[in-house]
Order: sequence, then structure tokens, then C-alpha cells
Amino acid sequence: MQPASDGALLQVERLSRTFGHGRHLVRAVDEVSFEMQPGEIACVVGESGSGKSTLAMVLLRLIPPTGGRIVFGGRDVTYLRRRAELRAYWRDVQAVFQDPFSSFNQFMTVERVLGRTLGLEERRLSRQERAERMAWALERVGLDPKGVLGKYSHELSGGERQRVMIARALVVRPRLLVADEPTTMVDASSRATILNLLLDLREQYGMSILFITHDVSLATYVSDTLLVMYQGRIVERGDVERVTKQPEHPYTRRLFADAFTFARRG
Ligand SMILES: Nc1ncnc2c1ncn2[C@@H]1O[C@H](COP(=O)(O)OP(=O)(O)O)[C@@H](O)[C@H]1O
Ligand SMILES: [Mg+2]
Repeated sequence: MQPASDGALLQVERLSRTFGHGRHLVRAVDEVSFEMQPGEIACVVGESGSGKSTLAMVLLRLIPPTGGRIVFGGRDVTYLRRRAELRAYWRDVQAVFQDPFSSFNQFMTVERVLGRTLGLEERRLSRQERAERMAWALERVGLDPKGVLGKYSHELSGGERQRVMIARALVVRPRLLVADEPTTMVDASSRATILNLLLDLREQYGMSILFITHDVSLATYVSDTLLVMYQGRIVERGDVERVTKQPEHPYTRRLFADAFTFARRG
């Protein structure tokens, strides 16, 4: 395990994930390579079915890759198998998913949801420490700990629920947050709150964020770097400015042209 020479937080090398066999083979993620630096917000943008969520699941080590390498903090994590090693990885790399309804267990209070993620900590935290961590995380996402800790999913609005999901990810103070379409299922006002909250996390804690969306305007709003995904491949990557002003790949041009037409009509 060679430490990364250039200090990259995440290095992804020719990462692949296929589903099925033979004529039914789907190359959901096809030899994807990119890097992320500490404190960087990178955005994977691409249409539905381009492989974004599969990429997220593989990076999170929730499903195994079928090829390639993931190096995090200089350490090869591609084939971690031992529970303790995976748990250590998940303390560093946390996720928020699209649907706060299905990812928020309806039979659990906010306190239990957050508490489960705190269970990833290496040592058992005291009651006091747990309370402090939860309060800290909830305050970061603009929720009053006293008001929400005892609540169940159905007692919260969609936007609040998604903010609880972000707080859940934050309790272990991850270095990388993978956010897969975190604003797709929330209303417009919560969307702005959530996006600004993610930007604050980077600003205040230097957290790196891999933001995943099909929405080009969201992508350009939040990110430093764009990774344009099409049919399982990253067809273009670069600085937001460069990619939006001088897209090189025909697919990127089409993506931005469509967004522009839409913006003018809307
Ligand atoms: N568990 C699975 N089994 C079979 N095919 C899958 C599975 N998950 C995703 N796929 C396929 O992989 C491709 C990429 O899907 P996905 O990663 O969900 O794309 P996106 O998130 O960009 O919409 C699609 O063709 C999808 O049908
Ligand atoms: Mg998806």
C-alpha cells in the first residue's frame, strides 16, 4: 500500500462494475478514473441510467467492483473484507441518498438513526459524547436537537428528513461525503437549504463531497470539478469553468445545450 504521492484523498483507477452475463451484460461503470483532493467538491453529472448510483455504491464499498482500484488516503480499499476495516472506511466515507423516505427507517427515532452510525466508532462513546456528537451534527444541518431527536420519520417534512440523513452521515465526521441526488426528492426551498449546507461543510470543515446529479445547473452551482458520465464512462472531466465554457465531448455539449434551452424556456 503506497501512500499517494500527491496527497489526493481519493484515487479511482479504471473502476468497473458489470451486472449480468453474456448477451445481458450491463457495463454500469466502465473503467472510470478520477481523483479528488481534500476539500474538493466534485460532481458526477449524467442522465438517468448512466451509472452514477452504481459508481456511488462501489465507491462506498456497498457493492464490490468487478475491476479497477479505489485508493483512499493513500490506502487501497478496493478489496477490504474484514468488518473492522470496512467500518474504519465508513467512518471516513459516508453517504446521503436520493430517497430520505426509504433510507430513514420508519420505526426509528432520529436519535436511533444517528446512534446507529455512531456505532461505527472504534471505541464505545459515553452517553455524554454521543449526545454531543448528535447535537453537533443536527445543529450543522440547521435542526434543533431537542426538537427532533425523539421524532420519527413521519413527523418530519421531506426536507427535514433529508437533513437528518445528512446529520446521520456527519456524526462520524467523515472526510468524504458521497451525496447521490440528495435534493431530487425534496421541495425547492429545502433544495437550496441543502445545497448551501453542503457548501458550508466544505467551507468550515474542509469536507470533500462527491455530489451526484442528473441536473446540470445543480452540478455547476455546487462543484469545483465536473465528471460527465455517459453509458458507464466518464467522457469528460475538468474544472467547472472549463467544462461549461468549452465542453469537449459531444455528449457534454448536448447536456449543456439542453439545460440552456430549458433555462431560457423556464
Ligand atoms: N443491481 C442491478 N442489477 C442489474 N442492473 C443494474 C443494477 N443496478 C444498476 N443496474 C443497471 O446499471 C445501469 C446504471 O444504473 P444506475 O447506476 O442506477 O444509473 P444512474 O444512477 O445514473 O441512473 C443501468 O442500466 C441499470 O439498469
Ligand atoms: Mg441514480
